[in-house]
Amino acid sequence: MKIRYLGHGGLHIELAGTQLIIDPFISGNDLARDVDISALKPDYLILTHGHQDHTLDAEKILKQSDAKLISTYEVANHYGDKGYEVVAMNHGGVYRMGELSLKMVNAVHSSSFADGSYAGNPVGLVLYTDTECVYISGDTALTMDMKLIPMTCPPVDVAVLCVGDHFTMGYKDAVIAAQFVEAKIVMGVHYDTFPPIKLDQDAAILAFKEAMIRLDLPAIGEVKEY
Ligand code: NI
Ligand code: MN
Repeated sequence: MKIRYLGHGGLHIELAGTQLIIDPFISGNDLARDVDISALKPDYLILTHGHQDHTLDAEKILKQSDAKLISTYEVANHYGDKGYEVVAMNHGGVYRMGELSLKMVNAVHSSSFADGSYAGNPVGLVLYTDTECVYISGDTALTMDMKLIPMTCPPVDVAVLCVGDHFTMGYKDAVIAAQFVEAKIVMGVHYDTFPPIKLDQDAAILAFKEAMIRLDLPAIGEVKEY
């Protein structure tokens, strides 16, 4: 699979020939100024929760593509009411897109829309085929529920974990999260965008190294192949 980091919690994943955009927050992120939003025309747009730093560019991408929106019941229906094609799911469910499957898993966080209205509960995502699997934590604290992932999903090849602290788990807890999901490779996200989530990158990489886990911190716009 290929994962392109779009900044903050945003990802462009190519897996099993399917293009997926997750949690786009680009136009509001000066660090992501070189990402061309108009080029993002995925097959599916997936949102982990309603917070604006995950949904800001969702409508722009839906308008310029034939993407189907997949999210939790409340977030999906929010966009469904505006006329977009959506798939509304909830925790524990699996949605199949050809040979690619998406499972929604628990995340310990909150979820509301920019106007403060209710956006259900946040989720993490497990995307997998017969041969590849990526876990995307979404915004979450470290939680024992992560131990359920290796019990219920294929082996995780790479885990995309928030590491920025303050609003989500920080890197020390993310090391334990990687151990819980049994991932040997981690892509760190959700850091540096705002002052409270500034990351000490060297310390983070070292903490993972000491646990014999590789931490990738790609530049915004960079593509990683896993
Ligand atoms: Ni959030
Ligand atoms: Mn967030």
